[in-house]
Amino acid sequence: MCGIIGYTGNRPAAPILIEGLKRLEYRGYDSAGIAVEEGDRIQSVCRTGKIAELERSLPQFHLTGSCGIGHTRWATHGVPSEANAHPHLSCDGSIAIVHNGIIENHAELRRILEERGHTFLSQTDSEVIVHLIEDAYSMLAFEASEDDDLADAEGKRTPHTSTSEMLAGEPSLLAQAVSMACGFLIGSWAICAMVASEPGKIVCARKESPLVIGRAATGVHVASDVSAISDAVSEVAVLADGQIAELDARMFNVFSVAGDVMTRVNPETMKLDRRADVADRGQYADFMIKEIHEQPRVIRDTLEGRFDGGELTISELALTHEELNLIDRVCIIACGTSYHAALVAKNLIEGWARIPCEVEVASEFRYRDPIVTPSTLVVAVSQSGETADTLAAIRDARIKGAKVFGITNVLGSPVARESDGVIYTKANKEVAVASTKSFTGQLVSLTLLAMLLAQSKGRLKQAQMRMLFSELSNTAAQAEEILKDADDVHRAALACKDARSAMFIGRGMGAAVAEEGALKLKEVSYLHAEAYPAGEMKHGPIALIEPGFPLIAVATESPTYEKVLSNIQEAKTRGAMVVAIATEGDERIREHADHVIHIPKVRDAFSPITAIIPLQLLARDIALLRGCNIDQPRNLAKSVTVE
Ligand code: G6P
Repeated sequence: MCGIIGYTGNRPAAPILIEGLKRLEYRGYDSAGIAVEEGDRIQSVCRTGKIAELERSLPQFHLTGSCGIGHTRWATHGVPSEANAHPHLSCDGSIAIVHNGIIENHAELRRILEERGHTFLSQTDSEVIVHLIEDAYSMLAFEASEDDDLADAEGKRTPHTSTSEMLAGEPSLLAQAVSMACGFLIGSWAICAMVASEPGKIVCARKESPLVIGRAATGVHVASDVSAISDAVSEVAVLADGQIAELDARMFNVFSVAGDVMTRVNPETMKLDRRADVADRGQYADFMIKEIHEQPRVIRDTLEGRFDGGELTISELALTHEELNLIDRVCIIACGTSYHAALVAKNLIEGWARIPCEVEVASEFRYRDPIVTPSTLVVAVSQSGETADTLAAIRDARIKGAKVFGITNVLGSPVARESDGVIYTKANKEVAVASTKSFTGQLVSLTLLAMLLAQSKGRLKQAQMRMLFSELSNTAAQAEEILKDADDVHRAALACKDARSAMFIGRGMGAAVAEEGALKLKEVSYLHAEAYPAGEMKHGPIALIEPGFPLIAVATESPTYEKVLSNIQEAKTRGAMVVAIATEGDERIREHADHVIHIPKVRDAFSPITAIIPLQLLARDIALLRGCNIDQPRNLAKSVTVE
């Protein structure tokens, strides 16, 4: 979703901002813009569509300034348009802001500001921020000049009391104005602001929406996402909720705010691991296919070092054996693909550890007053680590006294920082909007968690744990095997490409895989797809089956294999065109399926890790045949930072 970038230093800002915006592209956006200080004014340029469009339009503006802010916008309030794109400017054009998040009381604030004479140029919620800052700034500037006059009259004026040269470490007028403006806001925000009268300065504020700041030899950088920060930065400060930061070309200060008192604080810092952040698609045609092929590596890396001395360890869980033993319920919260990984985990946790496990989409959990007690382990699964609903659900669960354990792919992300413990999925940066390798990392991590819970409850003995771990490790080689030959997948894709709709079915583990397969297809090919537990077919969905209708069945070896087979037959008799994911050696299924995609034999518990791969490939193949943008599907965002 929306992304923020800012730079102040001794280099021209525009190319640095464009580079940062390009690194934010993967998040999904529909317009973009930058604002750069040019002498005593601010020049802003916004375009709808791709960053390349914005970049192409820049030469005519001859931007040379070395301080600027930029933004990618994913439309929420107001259509994607140049007027709605950020940065937004104050009425006199002297202040520019970019904003991530949602201002919930924007309508009320807009009404008040309009009554006070402000003119709004956009339909966005964000624009109220710049007008609030404008009011606060002129009030503070007026007060400061009155003070200066008084000091002059009394002959006490020193250079320190000048409005333009604040004491080192004291907040500037802009920082004070931003802080005052935030006092009126309800909602979530990451804001960067500049004012023409304080050249070379950027002020940032944050509530619930991330911002990181880093210093390099040539200037200071700020971004909403570490991956957008210049490679020249090796360590970032992570702005905490309620903090304000002030950047100039050489340094930055962070303030905490209590009422109208701003106190300088030392921010939390984080070293950047650039290896995990490489976004290079190498020889691959798109990131999605590259990331699908990375899955064997993700499995190996996620498992590395977990099973030593005959015991499974997840030290990051930060729970003692006694605390683990007290857990009487597990509640997994997630959205999208992460939710599907959670559905698999429910089967494993209940099956192995015999602990009741609920799985719920975070956007429902957060508004439902769920039953969560101190003996509930809440697990929050989020690739990006910044999904707004998942974060809100974490906060809610912690207030209720539960221990929250995060599973995320992004180091230092809000989910990681706000949870009591965290497992990183070792997928490394995922660029394609449709999540693939992160799903695998989540599946493996959740499998480990289920095994750990079973181990601590004494339900799985050492020998069983050893065997399971070894079979789990083997899925890496099995995934490699699947990826070697995608011909059958391609033939199935050709058969599905012109369909208007498709149905995915499975039972048990296969039902969760079917859900994720259908989601992948929808996301990248825009083909309508539904997933149903196969046993539910007769209760409605079978009415959709007509000759040629694609039915994609997850029919791998499992205790319910025969049941799935008869569901396939029921659809086949009504003319469905059946694509089946089956276990190597299963030739019987050919009698009922038009296309069979075989995968290596694997324990049912681990089958989602391998069975999803042909479905990821199928979705991408169909999308390619339908001429879709694989990595950046329409309307979708990689990180959903608003609810
Ligand atoms: C968006 C992405 C999905 C992702 C979902 C949850 O919709 O496009 O790929 O599964 O958000 O994101 P999270 O980062 O919390 O896993």
